[in-house]
Amino acid sequence: SSLLRSVKTLARPTTARAYSVDSVPSRKVTVLGAAGGIGQPLSLLMKLNPLVSQLALYDIGGTPGVAADVSHINSRSEVAGYMGDDQLGLALEGSDVVIIPAGVPRKPGMTRDDLFNINAGIVKSLCTAIAKYCPHAIVNMISNPVNSTVPIAAEVFKKAGIYDEKKLFGVTTLDVVRAKTFYAGKANVNVAEVNVPVVGGHAGVTILPLFSQATPKANLSQDDIQALTKRTQDGGTEVVEAKAGKGSATLSMAYAGAIFADACLKGLNGVPDVVECSYVQSTITELPFFASKVRLGKNGVEEVLGLGPLSDYEKGGLEKLKPELKSSIEKGIEFAKKN
Ligand code: NAI
Repeated sequence: SSLLRSVKTLARPTTARAYSVDSVPSRKVTVLGAAGGIGQPLSLLMKLNPLVSQLALYDIGGTPGVAADVSHINSRSEVAGYMGDDQLGLALEGSDVVIIPAGVPRKPGMTRDDLFNINAGIVKSLCTAIAKYCPHAIVNMISNPVNSTVPIAAEVFKKAGIYDEKKLFGVTTLDVVRAKTFYAGKANVNVAEVNVPVVGGHAGVTILPLFSQATPKANLSQDDIQALTKRTQDGGTEVVEAKAGKGSATLSMAYAGAIFADACLKGLNGVPDVVECSYVQSTITELPFFASKVRLGKNGVEEVLGLGPLSDYEKGGLEKLKPELKSSIEKGIEFAKKN
């Protein structure tokens, strides 16, 4: 039997490789806005993801270069670049996951809502194409203001008759990434072990980190919690100001976007218990869209998880965010209906 064991050990590397190639399904991922500040590092990170077999990089310009560059990396996926309206359909056809970081970013002094007029139109036209060319794809919306662009996407999909609420996600992962980093620093715990749910939306006070549920537990003062909450809510502005007119978070956002897309791919592939926070259609509050923990599965959202127990401070934050989030949702719906 010891001989058998050593034979098995010897055989393992080849068998393991054969299994992994056979058992990982083919998955096409499309990045819309792939030549941008977020799009480029996000394309790089998706090229490194072994769950991706085809990577389609689309933008209004610059994608041939990005695609040629990224395609030389010796990882699984085949990369192709697509440019301009004529090639949008090809970029989207057969896609399983479409990630959208297309649009303009903030400059100092701007709120995410200031981007509305430009980005709403971009999102609307891209989602119209998604409805036509890959109506069953999972959509990861990064373009701001996410609080409004997700409702816009939902309206476009409804009009096209293909809306599936389980497949539309606003990417709020960067808020979670920030909350984890800032909490670990303050609580002096290993950042790799930290978990913090972030709920609500993705702009200013609508970003509500639930530090009362953070793990590993730490005994932080109320002042510390308030400072952490504020820093998480203003994390984007911190980067916008530091970049002084040269855009908003791109590298940390690409990381966060890659984490979230990976979770969607794992869910599609049937990996159990994949849970991430995301801004989705929801019934856990009276608002039609809300970010909370979501279990991901073969059809996208498998379950929207509840908020769990909130501290009094968080309960106050929840009530405070609702009017702003409500009006951002309504603004998005109104735009989609009018245009
Ligand atoms: P960027 O300006 O560097 O890149 C945007 C890219 O979109 C450009 O390459 C542009 O050519 C492309 N684009 C414009 N119109 C397009 C269209 N119709 N089709 C395809 N591509 C198009 O901007 P950056 O920094 O990459 O930001 C992109 C978006 O992501 C912004 O709306 C920004 O506010 C948002 N963002 C979201 C975050 C989140 O946590 N959800 C965090 C940081 C930024």
